[in-house]
Amino acid sequence: MSSISISESLKKLGISTENNGTSTGLEFFSSGKNIESNSPVDGKLIASIKTSDANDYEKVLSKAQEAYKEFRQIPSPKRGDLVRQFGNKLREYKDDLGKLVSYEMGKSLQEGLGEVQEMIDICDFAVGLSRQLHGYTMHSERPGHRMYEQYHPLGIVGVISAFNFPVAVWAWNASLAWICGNVVVWKPSEKTPLCAIACQNIFAEVAKENGLPEGISSLVIADHEIGDRLVNDKRISLVSFTGSTKVGRIVGQNVAKRFGKSILELGGNNAIIITENADINMSIIGAVFGAVGTAGQRCTSTRRLIIHESVYDEVRDRLVKAYGQLKIGNPLDESNHVGPLIDKSAVKQYQDSIEKCKAEGGKFVVEGGVLEGENYTSGCYVKPCIAEVENSYEIVQHETFAPILYLIKYKTLDEAIAIQNDVPQGLSSAIMTQNLREAELFLSNGGSDCGIANVNIGTSGAEIGGAFGGEKETGGGRESGSDVWKYYMRRQTNTINYTTSLPLAQGIKFDL
Ligand code: UN1
Repeated sequence: MSSISISESLKKLGISTENNGTSTGLEFFSSGKNIESNSPVDGKLIASIKTSDANDYEKVLSKAQEAYKEFRQIPSPKRGDLVRQFGNKLREYKDDLGKLVSYEMGKSLQEGLGEVQEMIDICDFAVGLSRQLHGYTMHSERPGHRMYEQYHPLGIVGVISAFNFPVAVWAWNASLAWICGNVVVWKPSEKTPLCAIACQNIFAEVAKENGLPEGISSLVIADHEIGDRLVNDKRISLVSFTGSTKVGRIVGQNVAKRFGKSILELGGNNAIIITENADINMSIIGAVFGAVGTAGQRCTSTRRLIIHESVYDEVRDRLVKAYGQLKIGNPLDESNHVGPLIDKSAVKQYQDSIEKCKAEGGKFVVEGGVLEGENYTSGCYVKPCIAEVENSYEIVQHETFAPILYLIKYKTLDEAIAIQNDVPQGLSSAIMTQNLREAELFLSNGGSDCGIANVNIGTSGAEIGGAFGGEKETGGGRESGSDVWKYYMRRQTNTINYTTSLPLAQGIKFDL
């Protein structure tokens, strides 16, 4: 069923089994080795893709540089109009792209469509922003002087994205980068190249219709060696990286070494505190979606539940019941709640983490395991599981990209907040409570140390309007809404003297 409808979508998205690969909108530069994209849904080959080698990369970069010279001259509201048209095209392709995201990555169709909606939303946001790239004006301390600041584009923005959000994270970066006057070079995950090719094809249509230069948007499908090249490339002013803390640490250091800018969006280890004043029904829904949505492969997935001792048994028992009702299977079938993991190496990591958790003393109240049988032939389907643990276990301190949920008991809210913060990562967090004091304490400067802190909603599913990102080993970067656009521009302070004398600031006298 899924393979028939997916081939229609592939066709509409301009994906064939050949000639998919690196491009600068219209032209292809793919002389590297071939890679294959296999669906975790049914294990089938979707298409093979030509990758880029170092020469191709150079060609892409020079096209991007050329495009930048033209693109930065276009007024920002006009660049916004381009993003508006791109957003409208995404509306047209939403169903097909959402389906491809679901089939190539493995998330549920609802979540695939939601991811495309996230792209549309950020385009709308960027269009409005294209008329609001405001700087301040200041009063000069010198008479007859005017001071103000303005924001200029950076140049080329490199986006390195992960498999779990194969289209939205690029769109967060690209739509803002474009309205700011930058051009974008995208290196997507090698695990989801077709989603990237589809996006590039959609953008190419808009570029063509507007007679705009190739290279405003470039796609480089390549291995990590080309990724390293991009990270170390002085021509790339900003590198926005989404991925593991381990790789992000290297990316951050290498970009800093050449005084480039980086936005790092790395691992999370997100917790929900369920207090004695929580609405338990809401807590269960929030926790289950947070833990098993996208099969636990969101940066924002709920990994830990920190539960007050008075409601601990009730919450645990209801979770066990809810997990018993979860349907695992083809994510394109909307009656299923949980799809597959991205590949077999992810399955192995899931299994290893379960073993490690058991070895450290974790007690599984819902057992994990790999599913077998005719609906699970890809070998990537696993059972969401739940373990009672101590926060200090090494495995609990570590982000496993899989549906493993850890339960931890607490007595006082101060203790719960300390547990919540006592991990190396600092992305998303939440508290379930109907008590104002508890909620405000959690949000206060003595509360959650994460970039995202929610009350009465789960840890995942952030809207695009807020700044997205986190502290500590999550990398400190912010993407998406609020004033994040400033990362994509360089700030210039201008002082203009409209008098006939040259007074110095700070009252310094200097006469010739
Ligand atoms: C990610 O997992 O890398 O907040 C991004 C969320 C989504 C984005 C997640 N809007 O869950």
